[in-house]
Amino acid sequence: MSFTVAIDGPAAAGKGTLSRAVAGAFGFRHLDTGLLYRATGMRVLDGLDPVAAAEALVPSDLEREGLRSAEAAAEASRAAAIPGVRAALLAFQRDFARDPDGAVLDGRDIGTVICPEAEVKLFVTARAEIRARRRFEELRAGGAETQFETVLADVRERDARDMDRADAPLRPAKDAVVLDTSDLTIAEATARAVQIVASRRRMP
Ligand code: CDP
Ligand code: CDP
Repeated sequence: MSFTVAIDGPAAAGKGTLSRAVAGAFGFRHLDTGLLYRATGMRVLDGLDPVAAAEALVPSDLEREGLRSAEAAAEASRAAAIPGVRAALLAFQRDFARDPDGAVLDGRDIGTVICPEAEVKLFVTARAEIRARRRFEELRAGGAETQFETVLADVRERDARDMDRADAPLRPAKDAVVLDTSDLTIAEATARAVQIVASRRRMP
């Protein structure tokens, strides 16, 4: 029997961190769906048309260098507003969600579009300055030369584009539990996410 956990939220909210923790705690498989859009964005940077890029993705695209860069993120968000791009990536995500071992998917539209029937939906968020600070530190640790103000502006621009698009805009599903991690440590946020999933696991 499949069991799906949908984790959505804006940039650098902690979706991946919580997804990996939940997957580890329950033995579920994890898919970072943002990587599909980032890999599409990288192919657009290579010169491909966005829809053709999404349709042509292969597993090795998800391991390319530069996927975590701000340039790939911005290009991902532009491509993600195109309905044909989203349609090309849909079946892979839905199949993944039906894994018999259980699945955690994190992204923007998992609880609203990809897995509206998910057993657990979390909407992870935090104040923009805090998310930008986290992403800034992550990028700097990875060797990128960037400024906090640049990262904050990028995060805000991407969130606005993701929330305002017509197809699968970023918003909490009606039945999502909202988890604001602004004032939580990673350990606290993780404990809360694991507890929410555990409480649903026990329900008949
Ligand atoms: O997947 P998403 O972009 O939402 O965020 P992430 O990659 O899980 O987290 C972004 C950064 O924030 C990472 O460096 C995390 O270690 C950090 N983080 C944090 O400082 N506090 C949290 N409660 C969650 C994540
Ligand atoms: O890690 P972070 O939250 O910064 O970004 P990401 O999850 O890797 O997603 C990069 C971009 O892909 C987002 O800004 C969205 O435009 C798009 N995306 C989406 O539209 N739908 C998803 N399910 C996942 C990502």
